[in-house]
Amino acid sequence: MSTFKRTILLAVPAVATFGAMAAWTNLGHADAPADTGEAFPLATHDLLPHPSGRHVAFGRVDENEVLEQPIAYSHMLHAGTLQIDCEYCHSNARRSIHAGVPSTETCMNCHKMIDTTGRPELDKLKGYWERQEEIPWMKVHDLPDFVYFSHKRHVRAGVACQECHGQVQDVMTVAQRVAPLNMGWCLECHKTHPSVNENYGAQAELRRAEMKDCYTCHK
Ligand code: HEC
Ligand code: HEC
Ligand code: HEC
Ligand code: HEC
Ligand code: HEC
Repeated sequence: MSTFKRTILLAVPAVATFGAMAAWTNLGHADAPADTGEAFPLATHDLLPHPSGRHVAFGRVDENEVLEQPIAYSHMLHAGTLQIDCEYCHSNARRSIHAGVPSTETCMNCHKMIDTTGRPELDKLKGYWERQEEIPWMKVHDLPDFVYFSHKRHVRAGVACQECHGQVQDVMTVAQRVAPLNMGWCLECHKTHPSVNENYGAQAELRRAEMKDCYTCHK
């Protein structure tokens, strides 16, 4: 990570918490959805112009960008054809903030028994295993550090992985980002998701009010 990005990461929480929030409400952003009646910035935007000129926030990759990963692993093969459950590999999704990526050992639960002859990608996997190294997967999703997001709460409420990550098992080899990850995206679902009515019944409106409270996502 460049020093510049680090500086932003450090600077933003303070700025976002003190003062700036009030200022933002009055700025008016050209790319914000016009018809929501919400006063704060809903669309993706950078606090400072990004040095590369690209519209990315804090190391996030572009929507639908396909990153080159260290091994040509395929979600379509594993989660689609072979129907391996998402949580077999992303086993932290139900119990922690991060879903996590699988360890080399998780891959080897199966691949110890699969012949690598003439298959360079599987030779690479075996190499990491023999050197006892974790595979340096490139991160696809990355929210700015001043946003609090937890997988556990969403997964346990019954929000499907695919609602936020797309039909990974049908259309993706390596994972791609399909959601904008901006504030408007979070808030829109918080306003409308049916699980809140199911899980909270008479308290649903109260819960929805909590779910749009600034403090819920900006601690
Ligand atoms: C449901 C979660 C959620 C809630 C509730 C929420 N935010 Fe955000 N907010 C986000 C996310 C996600 C981002 C990052 C968006 C991006 O990178 O473009 C963000 C970004 C921001 C930023 C912009 C920082 C920048 O880079 O320009 C400000 C300011 C902000 N929020 C203020 C608020 C205020 C004020 C409230 C309450 C009225 C609020 N937020 C409620 C999720 C939330
Ligand atoms: C409500 C939306 C939502 C749901 C549901 C969801 N994710 Fe995520 N996922 C995100 C966001 C937002 C990030 C980025 C988090 C960050 O950068 O802190 C992310 C990041 C990830 C990552 C990157 C590593 C990490 O944990 O940061 C993996 C892997 C992942 N999700 C897998 C899954 C799987 C598998 C499921 C279902 C069991 C799932 N997600 C459900 C929104 C969601
Ligand atoms: C539950 C079992 C299982 C797990 C876990 C698993 N795989 Fe696989 N993988 C398979 C099977 C079965 C095949 C198809 C083998 C065949 O065609 O003979 C395969 C095929 C592959 C291939 C394609 C090989 C080729 O060139 O045709 C790659 C690459 C691969 N896996 C990498 C991984 C990685 C990396 C992980 C860990 C993130 C992993 N696999 C986890 C069962 C698994
Ligand atoms: C056999 C193991 C395995 C299974 C099953 C699996 N994944 Fe993954 N997943 C990986 C690996 C390895 C990566 C890192 C490489 C990549 O980004 O494609 C990854 C990356 C991801 C990412 C991006 C993480 C980031 O860096 O932001 C998401 C999102 C994701 N998976 C969602 C899912 C969903 C949804 C399912 C079920 C439909 C699923 N995965 C099933 C192994 C698996
Ligand atoms: C697809 C729908 C959906 C999206 C998109 C979504 N959420 Fe949520 N979120 C929910 C639901 C449903 C709950 C309520 C879970 C519960 O109360 O059991 C929730 C609850 C939360 C909570 C409350 C957790 C707690 O401990 O009280 C936080 C924080 C949160 N979301 C952050 C985010 C952020 C940040 C984003 C955007 C990056 C986001 N969510 C995007 C559906 C979504």
